[in-house]
Amino acid sequence: MITWINATTHPPLGQLMCASLAALEAGKHFLLPMRGQAMRQYTMPSDQDPPKTTHFGFREVAETEKERLVGQVFSNVASKYDIMNDAMSAGVHRLWKDRFIRQLAPPPGTKLLDVAGGTGDIAMRFLNYCRNAHHDHTAHVHLVDINPEMVNVGRQRFHNTVYDLKSQVDLSVGNAEDLADIPSDSKDAYTIAFGIRNCTHVDRVVREAYRVLKPGGRFMCLEFSRVENPLIAPLYDLYSFEVIPAIGQVIASDRESYQYLVESIRRFPSQDQFADIIRGAGFSVVGKGYENLTFGIAAIHSGFKL
Ligand SMILES: C[S@@+](CC[C@H](N)C(=O)[O-])C[C@H]1O[C@@H](n2cnc3c(N)ncnc32)[C@H](O)[C@@H]1O
Repeated sequence: MITWINATTHPPLGQLMCASLAALEAGKHFLLPMRGQAMRQYTMPSDQDPPKTTHFGFREVAETEKERLVGQVFSNVASKYDIMNDAMSAGVHRLWKDRFIRQLAPPPGTKLLDVAGGTGDIAMRFLNYCRNAHHDHTAHVHLVDINPEMVNVGRQRFHNTVYDLKSQVDLSVGNAEDLADIPSDSKDAYTIAFGIRNCTHVDRVVREAYRVLKPGGRFMCLEFSRVENPLIAPLYDLYSFEVIPAIGQVIASDRESYQYLVESIRRFPSQDQFADIIRGAGFSVVGKGYENLTFGIAAIHSGFKL
């Protein structure tokens, strides 16, 4: 906070500066002489300052709380996550994910980092694509997710497949905002699907993606987005707010987590705003930087580290 005050209404400068320094030590207001008659009063952050807030669905929560609340949502839904995705989207999420991987079109030997990878839908599709398109057994995916329960469901899933958990797949628990265990310039591709809107600082996530990619590497994000079509938008809203939480209640006995899901979609930046964040992190994008899927219910964003 900055306020202008008149020097003539205040004690002499020496006393004033001492008082200001004392106040500064106590983490409160302090005064600085400015040109002419006026002084500026500054406020330093202190332990008593209210914490920074962010959104958790439509609620405003402390930034430090969001991660825990999101963690709770995905712990609650982990065991029903895959079946709920099919129920909510009538299987359309599968078509979006297939398209996402076809757009990535990974060449043989690609080293992919799949962040917020959850139960492994993208990781699995990536390996299937490499095997089917190129008979490639050298591609590798490292799935990172902040939620151990989601990672465990993913691990079980890979156990029942042809993919060798050691040579082609790694799974670990980690935060998209700080991928400290992943070296810089080490990955050919980075994917994040339906994960970034759950993160507290979207810009930090994209900057981390930029850091871990090799020069020439590709960032791709699949995320729910904005429906602008005036005929479709109200129907989509009705479906989102009335039907999805009810499906959550019936299938997962959890209305609240799915209420959060639809609210979090509305709080995520628009397609163009998110494309700006991607450019801002240093990525080069082609054209407007995204492709809408199903009227913009979801969108694929893409950027290159050149
Ligand atoms: C909707 S699921 C998407 C899972 C998977 N990518 C898919 O498309 O099916 C979102 C995932 O993001 C994870 N997540 C949320 N915040 C995260 C963060 N800060 N870092 C890493 N993962 C996060 C959650 O644990 C959850 O598994």
